[in-house]
Amino acid sequence: MRTLLLCSLLGILSVGLVEAQDKKGPTAAKVGVTKAPYGKLADGTEIDQYTLTGAGGAIMKVITYGGIVTELKVPDKDGKLGDVCLGFDNLEGYVKSSPYFGCITGRVANRIANGKFTLDGKEYQLAKNNGPNHLHGGLSGFDKKVWKADPINLKGVVGLQLKYTSKDGEEGYPGNLNVVVTYSLNEKNEWRIQYTATTDKATPVNLTQHAYFNLAGHDSGDILDHQLMIAADQYTPTDKNLIPTGKLESVKDTPFDFTTATTIGKRIKEIKADPVGYDLNYVLREGKGLRLAARVTDPKSGRVMEVLTTEPGIQLYTGNFLDGKTKGKGGATYKQYGGFCLETQHFPDSINQKNFPSIVLQPGKTYEQTTVYAFSIQK
Ligand code: GLA
Repeated sequence: MRTLLLCSLLGILSVGLVEAQDKKGPTAAKVGVTKAPYGKLADGTEIDQYTLTGAGGAIMKVITYGGIVTELKVPDKDGKLGDVCLGFDNLEGYVKSSPYFGCITGRVANRIANGKFTLDGKEYQLAKNNGPNHLHGGLSGFDKKVWKADPINLKGVVGLQLKYTSKDGEEGYPGNLNVVVTYSLNEKNEWRIQYTATTDKATPVNLTQHAYFNLAGHDSGDILDHQLMIAADQYTPTDKNLIPTGKLESVKDTPFDFTTATTIGKRIKEIKADPVGYDLNYVLREGKGLRLAARVTDPKSGRVMEVLTTEPGIQLYTGNFLDGKTKGKGGATYKQYGGFCLETQHFPDSINQKNFPSIVLQPGKTYEQTTVYAFSIQK
C-alpha cells in the first residue's frame, strides 16, 4: 500500500508494483498502470505491454511497438466491459501484417501523391507503399517503431507517455523529429491523446491514431448499424487513388452527409469506390481548440463514443480492406466493415496542396495536437 501511494505521488509506477498486484489478484483492476513483457522483435528488442486502468472503469492495453492500443475495454449499458478495439493476440500479428490496428501513424499520416514533395526548394522522394502514393509514413512508419514509455498516474488520471526520435532522413523525411505522444484515461472514461513534436529542419508532420473501433465489441460482426454524426459540412474529394483534387465539396445530398446522426450502413452501397465503403477526409467545422468532431452510437450495447479534436480534418475509414482473412484476438474474424476508424488529422496530401492548412513544422516551433475519444452510455 505504501508503495502504491508513493508511486502515485511520483506519478510513476515501477515494475515492482506489477508483481505486487499480480500476487494480490483482484487488485489488478485497481486504478493505475502496470507493465508486462509482450514479446521480442526479430532483432531481439523487447516489447512491453502497459495496462492502464482508469478511475471510470475503462481498461486500455498499450504496447511499445507502434504505440499500439491492443485492447480497450469500456462499459456497455449494463456496466459490462467489452473490448471495442480490433487487434491481434500477440506481437507477431502486429509485426507481420497489421492493417494499422490501433497504432500511432506518422511522420505523415494518410497519403502523399507519388510520395513526392518540395520543401524550401528541395525535392524529396519518399517510398511509394500504396500504389503510386506514400501512405502512413512509408515502409517503416511510426506504427513500426519502438517507443520509449513512461507511465503516468496523477490526480486520478492514468496514462502513458510515449517518445520516439525519428532521425533526419528516416523514410526520406528531412530533420530529426522528437515526438511525444501521451495517452491518458480519466474518471469519465475519456481517452485523451496529446501529441507534440519538434524538429531541427523544416519537415511535414501529420500524426494520428489508427484505432479500429467496434462499439458492440471487436468480435461482434460489422459496424453498419452504428449511428454516426460528423461535424463537417464539407469533405475533400479525391481521385481513384484517394489523392485530394484540392477542392472542398459539400456533403449535402451525398452518402457522405453525417451532419445528423445516420446509420453507417444506410447509404454505404451508394459509394462509388473499389472496395465500396467510406474512406474519406472530412473538413471539420472551424472552431477554436478542442471541439466535437464526431459521435458514434451503438444501439445494441448502448455505447457512445464522442471524438473531440484540435485538428481541421478527420478520416472516416470503415475497414473496407478487411477481408475476413485477418485473424484477430481470440480467433475473431475481421470481415469488411468489421471496424471503423476516425483518424483526426490534417488533410491528405497537404504538403502538395497549397490551399490546405499547412503541415510544415519549422525548427523552433512545436507541433501540437489533442484528440479525445470519450466513451459513455446512451441516455
Ligand atoms: C487509412 C486509409 C485507408 C487504408 C487504411 C489502412 O484509413 O485512408 O485507405 O489505407 O488507412 O488500411
